[in-house]
Formats: sequence, structure tokens, C-alpha cells
Amino acid sequence: MMPMVFYTHSGVRYLVLLAAIAAVVYLLVGTFRGAPFDKLAKILTGAYVGLLDVQVLTGIVLYLLIPSYPRLMGHVVMMLAAVSVGHAANIVNKRRDEPSWGVALVGVALSLILIGGAIIAIGRPIFGTSVI
Ligand code: HEM
Repeated sequence: MMPMVFYTHSGVRYLVLLAAIAAVVYLLVGTFRGAPFDKLAKILTGAYVGLLDVQVLTGIVLYLLIPSYPRLMGHVVMMLAAVSVGHAANIVNKRRDEPSWGVALVGVALSLILIGGAIIAIGRPIFGTSVI
């Protein structure tokens, strides 16, 4: 069971990163175009946060299956911060009369930086899989 969860957690990361890159590119373009926040921006930011939630779930299961160590706590804490930032930006935007490209962009970019730091915290490459 553990290897299956490990490789799922390792692989889903690429979907999260892909969704983040797609969202950042689209939000950057939208920010500079100055058009109203549109449906695709909502879909891309929602997909990013949704995939992040799935990844957190697989991470928690994996965490319960392997012995913990101090650097792993750094990974977990930073990932929880990343998912919180992603959700917070979406909530702020939902509460605004006119959702903001900037809020969405900062939310995805900041959580992406935290994800990068969290992967580096356990000494793993951002792209590339360990063999267990
Ligand atoms: C609370 C959330 C999370 C928990 C509890 C968690 C837990 C873990 C655990 C237990 C490991 C295995 C560490 C080891 O092998 O020593 C791991 C590895 C990893 N995690 Fe997470 N994780 C979380 C969120 C995330 C997220 C959101 C991402 C990426 C978007 C991510 C990406 C990775 C990567 C890339 C690895 C290394 C995989 C490899 O070496 O192939 N984790 N995580």
C-alpha cells in the first residue's frame, strides 16, 4: 500500500504544478489586459486549489504510513501554508463584488513558492521522482 500511495503523491505533484503554471500564465495575461475577471480564470484557480486538496489528502495518508522525521515536518507545515494561501485567495475573491486578477495571481504564485520550498525541504527535486 505504501509504495502505491508514495508514487501517487509523487506523481500528482505534476498535475498540481501544471495547473499552477496554467493559472499563473492566464492570470498574468488577464492582469495586464485589464479585462473583467472571467470564467476561465475561475476554472483555472479552482482546478489548482482542487488538485492541491487531492495532493494534501494523499500526503496525509502517506504521512500516516511512514516514520516521520524533522525535515518532513517542514514539508507538511509549508504545504499546509500553501493550501491555506490558495484557498484564502479564492475566498477573498468570492467575497468581492468584482473578483481581482491580482488577488488570484498572488494567491497561486505565493502558494507555488511555498510548494517549491516544501519539496526542497525534504531534499527532493521539484521535477523528478525518488525510487523507494
Ligand atoms: C499536508 C500535506 C502533505 C503531507 C502530509 C505530505 C507528506 C509527504 C510525505 C510523508 C512524503 C514522503 C517523504 C519521504 O519519502 O521521506 C512526501 C513526499 C513528497 N511530497 Fe508531500 N505531503 C503533503 C503535501 C504535498 C504537496 C501539496 C505536494 C506538491 C504539490 C507534495 C509533494 C511531494 C513530493 C514531490 C514528494 C517527494 C516524492 C518523491 O520523492 O518522488 N506534497 N510528502
